[in-house]
Amino acid sequence: MRLRNVEGARDKILENPEHITDIDFNETVNLAEKFTRKQPLHLEIGCGKGRFAHTMARANPEINVLAVEQFDSVIVRALEKQLSTPMNNLHLVRMDAQRIEAMIPKNSLDAIYLNFSDPWPKVRHEKRRLTNHFYLNQYQRMLKPGGRIEFKTDNRQFFEYSLQSFNAFGMRIDDLTLNLHADHYPENIMTEFEMKFKDDGPIYKTIVRFEEANQ
Ligand SMILES: C[S@@+](CC[C@H](N)C(=O)[O-])C[C@H]1O[C@@H](n2cnc3c(N)ncnc32)[C@H](O)[C@@H]1O
Repeated sequence: MRLRNVEGARDKILENPEHITDIDFNETVNLAEKFTRKQPLHLEIGCGKGRFAHTMARANPEINVLAVEQFDSVIVRALEKQLSTPMNNLHLVRMDAQRIEAMIPKNSLDAIYLNFSDPWPKVRHEKRRLTNHFYLNQYQRMLKPGGRIEFKTDNRQFFEYSLQSFNAFGMRIDDLTLNLHADHYPENIMTEFEMKFKDDGPIYKTIVRFEEANQ
């Protein structure tokens, strides 16, 4: 992805710790403690400019939403949305998700959302894909028994890779569509990326869970 530098993004992030936590490589923070109300916790990894997380949090005040994004210049747009309509059940996190497990208590998440994650098509970049074995291990430990991962993408190769990865991990597929927008999913919340590319081809989506016996 080509990134445009947004002037002042870093300062804005650091000036608003009540809405966004900035985590450096060596830091460890308990992100579950960022909310005033204790209620089901959902995590989006790679939230981009935050449309999905904001809509999800606004529509579901009975859940807490953590939205993680690695780049200042992208998540600052999510922060601007939060500053204009603040919600106490949404908290943003600027970090690389590589160490996400250290920030979230074990068995504490109800759902993880991976929306249009970067496909990293080159084999040598497999370690960066958010649906690889390394990340699934972390997701399994953070999710409550029975918790789910919702994954959508417009990249067919990445979708196939991810299904194989879920299968190799012994996960159960609860739902799958090869054309999210043509099939009936009225609850679908569109992301920025989805709004932009929805007419260019089908969007694939699956909901998967770790089998309880694995936990
Ligand atoms: C293609 S964009 C999609 C953004 C958003 N989910 C959407 O659908 O509009 C993928 C986003 O995931 C972020 N991302 C990728 N790997 C990440 C990681 N390891 N940690 C945090 N964010 C990551 C990227 O920086 C990028 O903003």
